[in-house]
Amino acid sequence: VRVAPARNAAFEILMRVETTDAYASELLHSSRFNRLSTTDHALVTELVMGVLRWRTILDNQIALRCSQPVAKLDREVLISLRIGTYQLMFLDRIPPHAAINESVELVKQARKKSAAGMVNAMLRKLAETRFAQKADASNFRAAHPDWLVERWKQTHGPVIADKICRYNQSVPPTAVRINSNSANVGTAVPGCPVGKFRPGHLLANAAIVVGDVVQTVAAREQRLIIQDEASQLVALLIGEGKNILDCCAAPGGKGRIIAQQNPNANIIATDLHPHRAKLIRKLVTEPNVHVVAGDARTMPFATKFDRILVDAPCSGTGTLARNPDIKWRLNPQDIDRLQRYQIEILTAAMKHTAQGGRIVYSTCSLEPEENQQVLERAIAADSSFCVVDCKDELRKLRDSGELIWNDLDSLLIGRYVRTIPGLHPCDGLFAAILQRE
Ligand SMILES: C[S@@+](CC[C@H](N)C(=O)[O-])C[C@H]1O[C@@H](n2cnc3c(N)ncnc32)[C@H](O)[C@@H]1O
Repeated sequence: VRVAPARNAAFEILMRVETTDAYASELLHSSRFNRLSTTDHALVTELVMGVLRWRTILDNQIALRCSQPVAKLDREVLISLRIGTYQLMFLDRIPPHAAINESVELVKQARKKSAAGMVNAMLRKLAETRFAQKADASNFRAAHPDWLVERWKQTHGPVIADKICRYNQSVPPTAVRINSNSANVGTAVPGCPVGKFRPGHLLANAAIVVGDVVQTVAAREQRLIIQDEASQLVALLIGEGKNILDCCAAPGGKGRIIAQQNPNANIIATDLHPHRAKLIRKLVTEPNVHVVAGDARTMPFATKFDRILVDAPCSGTGTLARNPDIKWRLNPQDIDRLQRYQIEILTAAMKHTAQGGRIVYSTCSLEPEENQQVLERAIAADSSFCVVDCKDELRKLRDSGELIWNDLDSLLIGRYVRTIPGLHPCDGLFAAILQRE
């Protein structure tokens, strides 16, 4: 049996996610895997994301048919079993014998020949099972660590917690930013076949991709940048400035929009990690943007800025549909650790803000500890800042025709912007605006 390239790639990516700190979504878009054919790329994406989204459900099925505890299985064996089980449970179009035989082969390739018989027998038993209601609310919840679901119930209530869990188990829309109105998106992006786009839900200059765009000329030439609509919205909150700092800028998605909106401003984009700072230059090519690697907590700037974006490193719990690996990596203690870090970064940014200047603080976290609490604590320590009501900013964006989502109140919590996956058709993001009096 020869293992299909997509299953080999899925095995390799899932191994790397388990054994290193690499993210599945970044690996899938890396040059190594972008070389796969469009069909193979779609299948490897489906397998990797499917296994990560449903990991606990798959492991429960494996445990029912395994003579030893799942935790004791060799990693290579467990990952091959997960790939096989996912296909048997969730992918109707894959013939069971292909799913079974190739998982057995993956185990052999990984030099775990002695486990091949067991994998074969377990997957055959699984293939005979009729699975009822794989996709119901209890399974949506069970596909998450309990502590996260409990947290969302406390913060957002049980109904919204269920919506978040359901959304996380679906393939999220792939949004892009286009530079002309999405009414004519079919022809807006040269190098992309007509019919590849639908209009955005939140923004007039966003479009939703139908199918896979990774292989298109437009994507290769960077004319098409994949960016969630909520993330585009946060960048738009910066508005216009003369001296702008984007202090946690890599890979540069929001910075790119800020640069396009501010062709005459002096813009500095920084990121802690030099290799990540290099990524910014790929996305943000405007000559008025200066890219510097450095720590936002201690960077010495000669000037004060009238606009600062603090798009803080965060838990990422608003992006689990896109990054399902995060839910298995995160620990409850991470949230407090991140909060302390976020306060340090925001406090430093406040020191660099000119009088009358504004900071947009944002995260892609659903946890109030990383959002409202960070602001409250930072402001408590510096009373020269006040919170700007984001509703006014959203109204301006709507009046300008950019924001097309009608229910502004649903995008707000108090004076802050926040989107919730499942309630809105996008990632969960939080954004607040602070102004120095
Ligand atoms: C949420 S991401 C930023 C995404 C980016 N704004 C965009 O729209 O593409 C947070 C970034 O902060 C960077 N970072 C973490 N700690 C930092 C620090 N102390 N100073 C500057 N950047 C930091 C991380 O490397 C990461 O690239």
